[in-house]
Amino acid sequence: MGKISIQKPEGKLGVLVVGMSGAVSTTFIAGTMAVRKGLGLPIGSLTQMGTIRLGKRSENRFPKIKDAVPLAELKDITFGGWDIREENAYQSCKTARVLEDKDLEGIKDELEKLHPMPGVFDQNFVKRLEGKHVKKGDTKWDLMTQVQDDIKKFQKENNCTRMVVIWAGSTEAYLPMGEIHKDLAKMENAMKENHKEIAPSMVYAYAAISLGIPYINGAPNLTVDMPAMWELSKKTGSPIMGKDFKTGQTLMKTVLAPMFKTRMLGLNGWFSTNILGNRDGEVLDDPDSFKTKEKSKLSVIDSILQPNLYPELYGNVYHKVRINYYPPRRDNKEGWDNIDIFGWLGYPMQIKVDFLCRDSILAAPIALDLVLFADFAKRCGFMGIQSWLSFYFKSPMHDFNTIPEHDLFIQNAKMKNTLRKVLGEETIDYLDEEIDIYQ
Ligand SMILES: NC(=O)c1ccc[n+]([C@@H]2O[C@H](COP(=O)([O-])OP(=O)(O)OC[C@H]3O[C@@H](n4cnc5c(N)ncnc54)[C@H](O)[C@@H]3O)[C@@H](O)[C@H]2O)c1
Repeated sequence: MGKISIQKPEGKLGVLVVGMSGAVSTTFIAGTMAVRKGLGLPIGSLTQMGTIRLGKRSENRFPKIKDAVPLAELKDITFGGWDIREENAYQSCKTARVLEDKDLEGIKDELEKLHPMPGVFDQNFVKRLEGKHVKKGDTKWDLMTQVQDDIKKFQKENNCTRMVVIWAGSTEAYLPMGEIHKDLAKMENAMKENHKEIAPSMVYAYAAISLGIPYINGAPNLTVDMPAMWELSKKTGSPIMGKDFKTGQTLMKTVLAPMFKTRMLGLNGWFSTNILGNRDGEVLDDPDSFKTKEKSKLSVIDSILQPNLYPELYGNVYHKVRINYYPPRRDNKEGWDNIDIFGWLGYPMQIKVDFLCRDSILAAPIALDLVLFADFAKRCGFMGIQSWLSFYFKSPMHDFNTIPEHDLFIQNAKMKNTLRKVLGEETIDYLDEEIDIYQ
């Protein structure tokens, strides 16, 4: 990689959120507004609170990421988006019941002014929802051009120099990669012919990417995880990334599984179950939507443990994931893991994890970081899959020749080394200190 020239983050950054009335979206939008008004701290956000070591350890250079990397400032973000429900963002925050009134009071006016644009919806992809605030069009291509028009109009009216589109909408029904997803011309044709394998999320993604705008997929949907979209993103110079924000249980898995492997401890089984009472839980109660989520959650362990290399340790792992819709808990998910491991001479041991988490509180800072990094990637001239941002995803996107990286700490090192490289700093291989000491 030669020296990269990074365009400065001048002017306003338009952030369009698909599913902007949902729990994750409202927590992200309202939270960002609260933080920039000094009403709270952006806890969980690496871009806002994290540091990056530059140079040798002895140089003692640990600037904050937001000071070292030219990211857009929170004050320059203008929010907008689409939803299939019509209420304004303040009402949506109240419906989501994630943030309390005391946290919404200071940003109520700003939230009330935010109204979602009508969405592109097809109930075949989300059976548990009904679309009340939706676009009409003869074909999916026609709907796609309407989304393009929305983006252009938003950018112009809000005087934004750059745009990012992020999907934090519902999980769509499971859709395996078909022929029309493997080739751009075939996909475009399929949109014009209203093919049933074109999901609404693909309509938004195509609209954004065709305009050269970065697209982030926070759900496990197929959307941009296919050669047709990779081709489009390279053609238009758009960074794309996904899929499925890595928050609760999978975050724990990608910390614990690497620990077993580094210590060469064996694994017999991993049973994960959740209770969750928000709308996401209701949508995932439908077996088709759950299948999409299950695929995303299951891929993690095999990929980290590499059973082909360690058949005695990981050749026979029983991995089960359950999500149970349980309304009383709302967004406050509880996730249990029972992990059966074994050690020296095969003696069994157990680990139990009970994570009482808040789903959207964990997801909001990820959405913020991704939006800022997606815009940064675009200004660096990056395009196609952004694997350096795998850190944030349950099921990191990769092309057919690359193995995904799931280990949270390798992902973190990869992300920070990418930033160092772009900034023209030395990448860190963790050998420098010892070599310096013993020279
Ligand atoms: N909360 C987490 O920790 C977390 C973690 C990883 C992934 N996710 C994923 O993020 C997504 C959002 O989660 P949530 O808890 O906010 O769910 P939610 O149900 O509260 O919000 C989803 C929103 O999307 C809207 N929507 C659905 N289809 C749409 C369409 N075609 N166009 C426009 N809007 C549409 C819904 O009306 C709703 O407002 C889900 O796919 C979820 O699986 C969430």
